[in-house]
Amino acid sequence: MKILVINGPNLNMLGIREPNLYGRETYETLLEKIKNHCEKSGVEVSFYQSNHEGDLVDAIQGALGKVDGIVINPGAYTHTSIAILDAAKAVSLPMVEVHISDVSKREDFRQISYIRAACRKSIAGHGTDGYLEAIDFLRGEKCE
Ligand code: DQA
Repeated sequence: MKILVINGPNLNMLGIREPNLYGRETYETLLEKIKNHCEKSGVEVSFYQSNHEGDLVDAIQGALGKVDGIVINPGAYTHTSIAILDAAKAVSLPMVEVHISDVSKREDFRQISYIRAACRKSIAGHGTDGYLEAIDFLRGEKCE
């Protein structure tokens, strides 16, 4: 099984940005953690990170026919981007939304998630373990 993990704006700043919300783990450490998890589970994983909305749309479109599922943390674009939602709907790949922080307990403007409508599951507030849970969920879906 092949899974693409997409991270949106500012997630490359993990470990530096607001550690009280996002922890001290760096983006590179996150990738290592996901890679180790996938190795154990026989999942082929690839990664994409961008701070640009159109690049995220391109990455979703480019995944069509190449992977079996997508784990996505669109960062702030979660709350603003209809273009990313439309790309997700266009490829119609199994997708799980992940947020490191518990967005449900944060500002009002974080209460809307556009991408959610195209996702089979949303995981928030489980720290970076949420990415591993999302991968396990997609593995389970494949087995059904
Ligand atoms: C985030 C939550 C978003 O509201 C925020 O803009 C992010 C990170 C999270 O992982 O908790 O960049 O997606």
